[in-house]
Amino acid sequence: MINRTVSLGGAVGQVIGMADYRDLDPYAGVATPGVTIGEREFWGRGHGSDALRLLVGHLFGAYSLSRLELDTWSGNERAVRAFTRLGFHEEGRRRSAGKRDNAARRGAGQPGPGGTSQR
Ligand SMILES: CC(C)(COP(=O)(O)OP(=O)(O)OC[C@H]1O[C@@H](n2cnc3c(N)ncnc32)[C@H](O)[C@@H]1OP(=O)(O)O)[C@@H](O)C(=O)NCCC(=O)NCCS
Repeated sequence: MINRTVSLGGAVGQVIGMADYRDLDPYAGVATPGVTIGEREFWGRGHGSDALRLLVGHLFGAYSLSRLELDTWSGNERAVRAFTRLGFHEEGRRRSAGKRDNAARRGAGQPGPGGTSQR
């Protein structure tokens, strides 16, 4: 398993979040990307989608992957919309997962011409 994390910059020298991946398994061809914008004032400005798009492109470009997976709370509409726009789609929901009643979003994709995943 290989895990990596990078910081996302806002204004010069300002860290507003991070993008990472974990559970990279080149033999199974899967990895789990993740992105978090920690500063609320920067939510909804496209930074999360931009970072995830770059990360997805990097993962498909650097490794022989056939699939990326990620989970989020189903009520996190901002995350769901950002992930869906990048080609992730729901495969199932876990019930009674954690404190919230349901949680799960999973994506799969193949690299497209622009390096993003497609459904
Ligand atoms: C989830 C997260 C990574 C998304 O990144 P972001 O930069 O805020 O999102 P983007 O601006 O790239 O895209 C947000 C999408 O949600 C939509 N959106 C924005 N505010 C919204 C709201 N209040 N409710 C529903 N949708 C909303 C936007 O219109 C956009 O969708 P569109 O491209 O179809 O128009 C970021 O908000 C974040 O880190 N949030 C806090 C932590 C978190 O929730 N992490 C998810 C862990 S899985």
